Amino acid sequence: MNIQALLSDKVSQALIAAGASADCEPQVRQSAKPQFGDYQANGVMAIAKKMGMAPRQLAEQVVALLDLTDIAARVEIAGPGFINIFLDPVFLANQVNAAVACERVGIAKVSRPQTIVVDYSAPNVAKEMHVGHVRSTIIGDATVRTLSFLGHNVIRANHVGDWGTQFGMLIAYLEKQQNENAGEMALADLEAFYREAKKNYDEDEAFAARARGYVVKLQSGDEYCRQMWRKLVDITMTQNQLTYQRLNVTLTRDDVMGESLYNPMLPGIVADLKAKGLAVESEGATVVFLDEYKNKDGEPMGVIIQKKDGGYLYTTTDIACAKYRYETLHADRVLYYIDSRQHQHLMQAWTIVRKAGYVPQSVPLEHHMFGMMLGKDGKPFKTRAGGTIKLSELLDEAMERARRLVAQKNPEMNAAELENLAHAVGIGAVKYADLSKSRTTDYVFDWDNMLAFEGNTAPYMQYAYTRVLSVFRKAGIEESALTSPVIINEDREAALAARLLQFEETLNVVARDGTPHVMCAYLYDLAGLFSGFYEHCPILSAESDAVRQSRLKLALLTAKTLKLGLDTLGIETVERM
Ligand code: ARG
Repeated sequence: MNIQALLSDKVSQALIAAGASADCEPQVRQSAKPQFGDYQANGVMAIAKKMGMAPRQLAEQVVALLDLTDIAARVEIAGPGFINIFLDPVFLANQVNAAVACERVGIAKVSRPQTIVVDYSAPNVAKEMHVGHVRSTIIGDATVRTLSFLGHNVIRANHVGDWGTQFGMLIAYLEKQQNENAGEMALADLEAFYREAKKNYDEDEAFAARARGYVVKLQSGDEYCRQMWRKLVDITMTQNQLTYQRLNVTLTRDDVMGESLYNPMLPGIVADLKAKGLAVESEGATVVFLDEYKNKDGEPMGVIIQKKDGGYLYTTTDIACAKYRYETLHADRVLYYIDSRQHQHLMQAWTIVRKAGYVPQSVPLEHHMFGMMLGKDGKPFKTRAGGTIKLSELLDEAMERARRLVAQKNPEMNAAELENLAHAVGIGAVKYADLSKSRTTDYVFDWDNMLAFEGNTAPYMQYAYTRVLSVFRKAGIEESALTSPVIINEDREAALAARLLQFEETLNVVARDGTPHVMCAYLYDLAGLFSGFYEHCPILSAESDAVRQSRLKLALLTAKTLKLGLDTLGIETVERM
């Protein structure tokens, strides 16, 4: 049920009947305060201005024409022309009754599913995933889950950094390792592997010469080099796959669409941009000059798409990649989860993409950027020695802390149950801490905050869910035995019901903006409303069986909504904690 859409529609109809244009925007929003009703239409003032009418007068006409029979109990005009709508408790009761009976809590799949490509995670080969990739992975996956739940056709694109001149030295080093270790090697420590390869390259001239030779050979498709390259990609992605599993992230090996995928397209792109007059030769390189961006001297910025030595750049790949996502994957929309430092890079690539006509304006290319992960001292998140924090170690620590915490709280639980719970809480805490913050800002990584059982945290939300379930356990009633309808008499019941019915609106915001923190805030608010309801509206000792059943239904819908909501975030729930 999308109440906002329903009310928007009704208010629009009234506005049109009052003489407003057919495309008028009533701007119906969830009200900020209870005294403004459940929803408020804010658009009347602007529309009245366009019509040359007094806002208050238009508002009065709209209210007279507005037909909200069986939907609203009361409609009021406030201030210069806000329209406040108070929903009818009977309407709320009927909607809750319908939603609770349905597995998707009344949320239909979109009528026109889009093909949406989501570019996220994107680690680099032979390198440990760093914190930037962690944010991309976690936030991107929550958005993917939300879009899928709404029925879109989502393509997960893991734009792995699997190409570049560094592969010469990596292949040379892998070869050296294999020779020394009789064949096999695990690349167990990716960071050390990369570091050692670089060291050899810098210090050993013969090694460096071999490495440079391998770059050329790899680019020309030499079988031995291809094989070694594939091995590096394979070992890296096998390790990353374990991390995805541990993080409860939906990416699979099939989602890898690395930079190398676009190699065959690059010569054609450069030739085409030249033919279109967009790219020119400049000091031996091929460059696109963009008026939209100025360099230090105020001149159009030159974006290199092919180097003097013939090599292509990260930008060239991203131009080809956007084209591929539109032409070959038939994307209606493309989202990129990449940290904010790459914003300029993307904007330049996409400016070229648009100018060349590779992706029409009707297909949005969206940079869903995010800030950095900071330590408690406000500086970039690093180990004490100043190194990058390994994701696997971070997750080990999360598990360790969660184990201690849950064991202390649940002395009666057996080992297997505790381990399961520690996993849900530990991994959930790391993910939720990231998801619950607006992604555009930097965020401070703080163990104590994320593992607290109070506040907008994973443990609190997971615990809130188990509390609702325990209401049922105590009532000893099966879901199927709840046969009487929902009745809403108390304000707290109405407030909880209205919020429950806003789940779909929340999903739509996350789907539109790619901002899972909006879902976290919603679920947190919902859990708070449930607490208030539970405290003031007795369930087990309700005055009648009808009221008890009705309240159990409200509790049931709360449980289902919390679970589905946490699912869209990739946060696991448990039955007991
Ligand atoms: N591998 C890149 C990095 O680690 C991120 C790639 C993001 N996706 C893209 N289409 N450029 O910075």
